[in-house]
Amino acid sequence: MDYFNYRENGQLGVESCELSQLAAEYGTPLYVYSRATLERHWHAFDQAAGEVPHLICYAVKANSNIAVLNLLARLGSGFDIVSGGELARVLAAGGDASKVVFSGVAKSEAEMRFALEQEILCFNLESEPELARLNQVAGELGKRARISVRVNPDIDAGTHPYISTGLKENKFGVPIERAIALYRQAATLPHIEIVGIDCHIGSQLTELEPFLEAMDRLLALIDRLATEGIHIHHLDVGGGLGVNYSDENPPHPEQYAAALKAKLAGRDLQLIFEPGRAIVANAGVLVTRVEYLKEGEDRHFAIVDAAMNDLIRPSLYGAWMNIIPADRSLARPQRRYDVVGPVCETGDFLGKDRELGVAQGDLLVVRSAGAYGFAMASNYNTRPRAAEVLVDGAQAHLVREREPLSDLWRLERTLP
Ligand code: LLP
Repeated sequence: MDYFNYRENGQLGVESCELSQLAAEYGTPLYVYSRATLERHWHAFDQAAGEVPHLICYAVKANSNIAVLNLLARLGSGFDIVSGGELARVLAAGGDASKVVFSGVAKSEAEMRFALEQEILCFNLESEPELARLNQVAGELGKRARISVRVNPDIDAGTHPYISTGLKENKFGVPIERAIALYRQAATLPHIEIVGIDCHIGSQLTELEPFLEAMDRLLALIDRLATEGIHIHHLDVGGGLGVNYSDENPPHPEQYAAALKAKLAGRDLQLIFEPGRAIVANAGVLVTRVEYLKEGEDRHFAIVDAAMNDLIRPSLYGAWMNIIPADRSLARPQRRYDVVGPVCETGDFLGKDRELGVAQGDLLVVRSAGAYGFAMASNYNTRPRAAEVLVDGAQAHLVREREPLSDLWRLERTLP
């Protein structure tokens, strides 16, 4: 459920604002987020976990605008980070470092040092050499690093190969057979404290089965470790719960959590979730204006002012994202359009073969763009990144200005 709905007058609203008005005020391309939707999705996880001790560590990479992070921090959220930069963002947004888990395969010494100084909750380790480095860095600081081992359970998440992470051919995590040896090693190191176990098998999962299979494998590993005197306090199930882009029908957090809780019954484990997409995807849209309609040989093109640099998911993963008019009351002839952007690449499209009624100057809205939208934007073709607005009831807040052009080469130098 989200708060983007058509009004009786045909305008697409977001909470108590209208997208057309926001586009008029802030220009396009424009990302628009809904506070009520964001908070609703976070609470859905929190309530679903219910009485089980739990922590929701929102995956910052999905949408890292500090206004978004700040709202989640106010709800008491934790954060899953993958870089020192994300940790700095979380802190700038008022997030609590003691609720931060640090994932990622290539943590540098500097990132480890920064995270240790901030006393984060846990490092999710992904390899043997990373354990050695962390022990070393923590020792230099006179600290003990809390760790979890990211186990790669070798499960097919049934999702796009680029966002599937739990197969043994992927670079992520430690194969389940080697994880035991890694825990044994960790238990001998003076600057390491074992606190958890984690996995993340992929993103945009639409079935429960792969999650539950992964959970079974992790629980078996926890039991095996216990026989060796290694005790695990938290089980971090990663992120990955899918959302509806079209008709996927993924499980609701309630069903997901219920299934996990059933497996946890009788165990003294804290449950950690790292949802990204499930919280922000449907809390955001990308608003874009039609610059031209163009007739190709056998195709109609709606050329819009947003491009792959603003929203790369369709180009990179062939992702299907819904594209709808900002005002559906306008009488326009319906046609099948490829919705394409200004970037000089054939792969620059937001959607292909879409039945739409549009005219030059109309606004189109790409739904479900709150996750991995702005966060993956670039300046390709020297295009300033879009502005971001966060709507809170009848109020719209500009939470990121449109990038001024001169900022794009501000760090560049000509030769003397
Ligand atoms: N935890 C870890 C360790 C992750 O690697 C990820 C996402 C998450 C949590 C959050 O997963 P989510 O709940 O959002 O599925 N750019 C791609 C998605 C990449 C996901 C990478 N890892 C896309 O636009 O579909």
